Amino acid sequence: MIEYAHVIVDLQAGDTGKGKIAHSLIKKPNEYTHVIRYNGGGNAGHTIYHEGQKIVTHFIPCGVLYGIKSIIGPGCVVNPFKLIEEWNHLESLGFNIKDNLFVDKRVHMIQSNHIEEDNGDTKIGTTKTGNGPAYRDKYSRKGKRAENFLQTNLIDIYEELHGEENVRILFEGAQGFELDIDWGDYPYVTSSHCTVGGAILNGVPPQKIQKVFGIAKAYSTYVGNKNFESKSEIFDKIREIGNEYGSTTGRPRQINWFNISNVIRAININGVTDLYINKLDILRELNVFKLIIENDVMSFQTSYQFETYINDVIKHNCSSVININFETSPY
Ligand code: IMP
Ligand code: MG
Repeated sequence: MIEYAHVIVDLQAGDTGKGKIAHSLIKKPNEYTHVIRYNGGGNAGHTIYHEGQKIVTHFIPCGVLYGIKSIIGPGCVVNPFKLIEEWNHLESLGFNIKDNLFVDKRVHMIQSNHIEEDNGDTKIGTTKTGNGPAYRDKYSRKGKRAENFLQTNLIDIYEELHGEENVRILFEGAQGFELDIDWGDYPYVTSSHCTVGGAILNGVPPQKIQKVFGIAKAYSTYVGNKNFESKSEIFDKIREIGNEYGSTTGRPRQINWFNISNVIRAININGVTDLYINKLDILRELNVFKLIIENDVMSFQTSYQFETYINDVIKHNCSSVININFETSPY
């Protein structure tokens, strides 16, 4: 029986530090029995600093780092060759993947023709990992599921979550609200459900979701073909100091100011209870504090004024929010 589920959602366009927050949450002893990835595929890149070591994962939930049962849920798509590569890499670092990682039998497979097709994309600026074509084949009912491909560590997530006692789940989302297939800036989006709705699709009833951790960054980034950044030296500096380069593709991320109007919308749609705003130290280092509200740019003299303003506006507009945490970089 499920005791509770918590969900991590990204409130911007990915790369907000979900991996860091997930890692800090699962450290708490007995907080979670399961960590579940609920959307996306090899397009995701989660950067985690584990006991001084930088680890980048694409498919495997971070629960494996602490020996917590980790599941790739039915909302995901997987490239089996890349998954095995990542599995071997983590095993070589000393983590036990064999006993901790499970794949739901309904997960769809990214196949070589999906990657070939995605490599031809010039419009969206995808990660070229075959993500979009794999989901298209899933929805047009032509896809291949894990049960046709993988032999080991396959499970039925229903039996796992509803058949065991005292199940406590952390759902780890990939990508972010601005890339969500329904709520993002279509067509410059990914092909999966990045909201809390996407987590529920993986077999957990809505009443069990007790907390929603919404993750944002103190400025915005985006990778892809739409024009997101206006030319300015300050954005170049943020990119360098914040190391804003894609962890999957190495592409420079476009930078802009924190868009509070968009973040409010994302909070309200996801029912965020605990808000984390990461990487405030990057703005502090540059001593520049700006945000976008309804298409206007507002400037602040100090970090304190910036934080207070964000705190007040969010508390005023988002009744679900209980805690707001301003965080710095993980290193
Ligand atoms: P796709 O998911 O590879 O189809 O790419 C669609 C859009 O989402 C592109 O703009 C990608 O750069 C972006 N994207 C996909 N996954 C991520 C991610 O994990 N972080 C940031 N951007 C992503
Ligand atoms: Mg990432």
